[in-house]
Amino acid sequence: MVFDFHRKHSVVLVVDFGAQYAQLIARRVRELNIYSEIVPNTITAGEIMKKSADAIIFSGGPASVYEPKANSIDKKIYDLGLPIFGICYGFQLIAKDQNGKVSKNDVAEYGRTPTVKTSQSKLLNDVPDSYLTWMSHRDSVTQLPDNFKAIAHTEQTQIAAFESERLKLYGVQWHPEVIHSEYGQTVLKNFLLDCANLSQDWTNSSIIEEAVAEIKSTVGDKEVICGLSGGVDSAVAATIVHRAIGDKLTCVFIDHGLLRANEAEQVINDFVSLTHVNLKVIDAKNAFFSNLQGVMEPEQKRKIIGAQFIRAFEEATKEITQNHEVEYLVQGTLYPDVVESGGGSGTDVIKSHHNVGGLPEDLKFKLIEPLRMLFKDEVRQIGLELGLPKEIVFRHPFPGPGLAIRIIGEVNDHNIELVRKADLIVREEFTVANLDDQIWQCPVVLLADVRSVGVQGDSRTYGHPIVLRPVTSQDAMTADWAKIPFNVLEKVSTRVTNEIPEINRVILDITSKPPGSIEWE
Ligand code: XMP
Repeated sequence: MVFDFHRKHSVVLVVDFGAQYAQLIARRVRELNIYSEIVPNTITAGEIMKKSADAIIFSGGPASVYEPKANSIDKKIYDLGLPIFGICYGFQLIAKDQNGKVSKNDVAEYGRTPTVKTSQSKLLNDVPDSYLTWMSHRDSVTQLPDNFKAIAHTEQTQIAAFESERLKLYGVQWHPEVIHSEYGQTVLKNFLLDCANLSQDWTNSSIIEEAVAEIKSTVGDKEVICGLSGGVDSAVAATIVHRAIGDKLTCVFIDHGLLRANEAEQVINDFVSLTHVNLKVIDAKNAFFSNLQGVMEPEQKRKIIGAQFIRAFEEATKEITQNHEVEYLVQGTLYPDVVESGGGSGTDVIKSHHNVGGLPEDLKFKLIEPLRMLFKDEVRQIGLELGLPKEIVFRHPFPGPGLAIRIIGEVNDHNIELVRKADLIVREEFTVANLDDQIWQCPVVLLADVRSVGVQGDSRTYGHPIVLRPVTSQDAMTADWAKIPFNVLEKVSTRVTNEIPEINRVILDITSKPPGSIEWE
């Protein structure tokens, strides 16, 4: 099921020329409450019409517009009469396609660059005469196309921005989407609101309303199931679907006993009492724990958990489908996953599924993916709008295999209990210190296979260490270790060693990723 937002909103297409920043541009547009979508540079004028685009942004890109294999664009797009805004490579491409000239500079411009306005323009309205922009280029526009005027320059670049109101073509050499560019969002806003006259109609309530209407009309009176993990994506997806079809939705929660303190309860009690959704809880703790007995090797743990997960999910669906024919499965797929996997137009039959633990191919459900066009921050905003508790909406990422991969050693009741208690203390103290928004997550890892000597009261102890792994990150692909204030670390260390007698040492992991991964297993 593909959500079609095109007819109902202003639509901005971000044409990706191989930029690092295409997603960032799309997000910046959405921050202005305007719907945006990333499309490849092979898109044709006809396809753009079909998407009912109201404006287009050309992204940056790594190539030089004159290289033989450089990414180009269907020239007929310029004949559509849509406003186009070019950024960096996109700016140079507009210049080249409109018969201006682009040449290599003697000196490249990288980083923050003083930029000066040279004339009044719609694009740079409300921007001061001189300010800093973030540049990353060696080629420059050296000759304006006809009917264009230059509106900014830098020391190295005579034409750093231009506009042609008549042709509705606009562009800047710098990257307004990155935070290092001053007034970047003002420039983007000027393009979208003043140059392109778009309406700011992409709001949380409109997203919810439309998703609900679309699900209602597609699903009709068919039955739907949804796996809940405790995380924000599945909770928001389930809540939207529930709004649309009520009791026709059954949620499945697999309690594998590997969640953190209060998380299972949060799903079983809080989420259900709030939403009144039908919930089927599968208590699979014994099966998970008995299969994990004696297993130390991380990959083996993960495989066992994956297999047990599938078994439990199959059991749940079998029970549910005994009574009704279930036709749809809800997935919490997000827009970055869609873009990164090639952007396709929506699969119908499930193949592999990461959110619910790699479900097998023969589970032939049709998919409902209500978050498929949304970024994570939008999902969170919608979660709040739907009235979900902050604990769910702002939950830090937590791995599917749960605490099992935060125990270096065997997964058993005793070890789970220790890591769960330590994790709760860390989360409590980080929340009191207002650190939740400043870090990506903080795995707490029990070194169950390691013991060291300590002293507590007058007695010798021989306990386990726990490791704190606080990290900052944008997307978990890379990460930095987070500089947690010493007083918070001190409090955590004191509480953990006082409240959990089996733990007598607290260690801080100061490895970035790479080389270290965020999780220890
Ligand atoms: P690593 O350890 O690979 O983790 O640096 C990157 C991010 O992914 C999370 N993570 C997982 N999430 N299932 C998940 O849903 C998994 O098996 C899994 N393993 C790691 C991790 O918490 C971090 O945010």
